[in-house]
Amino acid sequence: MKTRNVLLAVTGSIAAYKAAELASELVQNDLSVRVILTRGGSRFISPQTFEGITGNLVASDLWGTGAGESAMEHLRLASWAEVLIVAPATADAIARLAGGRSDDLLGASALAFRGPVLIAPAMETNMFTHPATMANLELLTRRGATVIGPESGRLASGSIGSGRMSEPSEIARAVRDALRTSQSLAGRKVLVTAGPTREPIDPVRYIGNRSSGKMGYAVATEAQRRGAEVLLISGPTSLARPTGMEVIEVETSDEMRAAVLHNAPNQAVIVMCAAVADYKPSRASDGKLKRGEAQHIDVTATSDIAAEAARLAPDAVHIGFALESGPLVTAAREKLRRKGQALVVANGITPDHNPFGSETNQVVFVTESGERAFPPATKVEIGRWLWDEIEGILLSRSSTERT
Ligand code: CTP
Repeated sequence: MKTRNVLLAVTGSIAAYKAAELASELVQNDLSVRVILTRGGSRFISPQTFEGITGNLVASDLWGTGAGESAMEHLRLASWAEVLIVAPATADAIARLAGGRSDDLLGASALAFRGPVLIAPAMETNMFTHPATMANLELLTRRGATVIGPESGRLASGSIGSGRMSEPSEIARAVRDALRTSQSLAGRKVLVTAGPTREPIDPVRYIGNRSSGKMGYAVATEAQRRGAEVLLISGPTSLARPTGMEVIEVETSDEMRAAVLHNAPNQAVIVMCAAVADYKPSRASDGKLKRGEAQHIDVTATSDIAAEAARLAPDAVHIGFALESGPLVTAAREKLRRKGQALVVANGITPDHNPFGSETNQVVFVTESGERAFPPATKVEIGRWLWDEIEGILLSRSSTERT
């Protein structure tokens, strides 16, 4: 089997000593490891440590003055690597990655690299929870990077808090995971809908809902991370438009329907995350309604886009979402049958938990033959579980076709 290549960047934190253990575990996993040691990193650990562990020269300088480095080292490293892991990642390294800086070897290599990026932060609690660091990590996550940890525990200052780098074994597991999925959807076309729809009452008012689009964007980003050709059809959200995928922005359920049905043929997978309005005003007023004029609004049912898409593109794997206040699984399975879907992600809405707008959710995957309940998790994590499951469905379909 071909040896897989891991680029490990070590930046200036006391947790750098744990990076040696990480490098060692990766080498023991039969991975080929090259290390970028930043100037800050080299204050905590020597290049010889990593050279001894990995058997490869350590790279440090963008301008190639180190042994074995060329002036184009960042491009060589970026095309060699299959995964980039920054561990430990300081607040500064995270800010520089988020800002797209390229004035050192790590920044330039990260910009030139197109594969999965993992970040294991390590810093004092206040630095980690500072809005600047949080915003930088959120930006990197939205671009498809995976943040591992940090954990809570004893920090370099002696205080106890969040900011401790995750254990090397956990980071190594994430690296193996990233390698497993990095191109697992290559060559597949995937359509994802996200966000709410707005059904106009008049030029200023609409019927809408509280969907933030976070789940759908996470699903689209994860598919892209796995190498799929992604089309995201999004209702109005306040989220940054993802890069590296085609995005069609729509407002009403009719516009979403047209965009989905136009693009449904030829897709391998269609994931309907959008919270589509079930009703729209029968007629939108051309002029702004006066006080008293809109006491009563006639509504018409919208068409079920998911069910139509499943009829139009029967060869695709169709995935739905179901938000329920009552018993989850029976209602979700009923929807799955009604809409012709392979899997429905069921989530509950209770007085204590409203998944709309939240960063986290708790879901159950429901298929015709079974169900699988998951613990509460971030929407990014749920996106990963969902694609693991969908890949299983794609695999079983292709093996059925072969037999
Ligand atoms: N959906 C759709 N078109 C609609 C309404 C919903 O494609 N007009 C899709 C959603 O994207 C989601 C799934 O159907 O994947 C379930 O949405 P949900 O609102 O939970 O179910 P409904 O079919 O609308 O049923 P109900 O509102 O009665 O629960």
